[in-house]
Amino acid sequence: VGSAAVGVPGPAAVTDHWFEAVADHAGPAYLRYSFTKGTEQEVDFLVEALGLGPGQRVLDVGCGPGRHSHALARRGIPVHGVDISQRFVDLATENAPPGATFERMDARRMGFDGQFDVAISLCQGGFGLAGDEDGEILARMASAVRAGGRVAFSAFSAYFAVRFLEDGDSFDAGAGVNLERTTVLSDEGEPADFDLWTSCFTPRELRLMCAQAGLTDVEVWSVTPGRYGHRAPSVDEPEFLVVASR
Ligand SMILES: C[S@@+](CC[C@H](N)C(=O)[O-])C[C@H]1O[C@@H](n2cnc3c(N)ncnc32)[C@H](O)[C@@H]1O
Repeated sequence: VGSAAVGVPGPAAVTDHWFEAVADHAGPAYLRYSFTKGTEQEVDFLVEALGLGPGQRVLDVGCGPGRHSHALARRGIPVHGVDISQRFVDLATENAPPGATFERMDARRMGFDGQFDVAISLCQGGFGLAGDEDGEILARMASAVRAGGRVAFSAFSAYFAVRFLEDGDSFDAGAGVNLERTTVLSDEGEPADFDLWTSCFTPRELRLMCAQAGLTDVEVWSVTPGRYGHRAPSVDEPEFLVVASR
């Protein structure tokens, strides 16, 4: 485990997270999961909701293999993606269009300071996989954008998780964390079992976390992967999408 500062020039810090083993096993097969198929719609929605355009610089936190970063860069919007999984950073870099750059970084320790216009974290890209440190990630995303910049992130709905608790899942009501035992296939089709811990939230909690991170103008919508939209929070969709300003 390394201790170098991150978000500043120098060697990347190495801080372990349980998702790295999942990413190492899944590799490019991650992009076969159905929840990754709605990237273009999600990015179209974010471009409109955040008023994104060429000349703005985006930070993609927990970017995975870079599907949103790539889609933004293809629209002429420069993106820097960070992820704790070296495997995913390598995949994102291999297929990167011009304007998309990537590095390994722990979102819990990011040291950016206003270099970006917008910071996003989608589909549990760090935020939602950090337990007690989810708020730390949000605070560091807020610090990464300039004054007046925007932050957008998705979060699992606690309402939905409890309402549609799957067989074998266990929901820790005190922590708001859902534990799922799941089988992940590798690129070669090899199965391996993993425990996934996902933090789940209510809109009220998300608004309070935004306030604590110094974010204002908070909007919360109920969304489904591939179906982002301006729908009021409900108990019927799996995720909330939060957009706020620094
Ligand atoms: C479900 S994937 C989502 C990836 C991508 N945002 C997407 O929508 O496809 C979660 C990602 O968060 C990354 N991640 C988890 N904890 C992280 C942390 N503390 N810092 C940076 N990345 C993290 C994982 O390595 C993984 O790539």
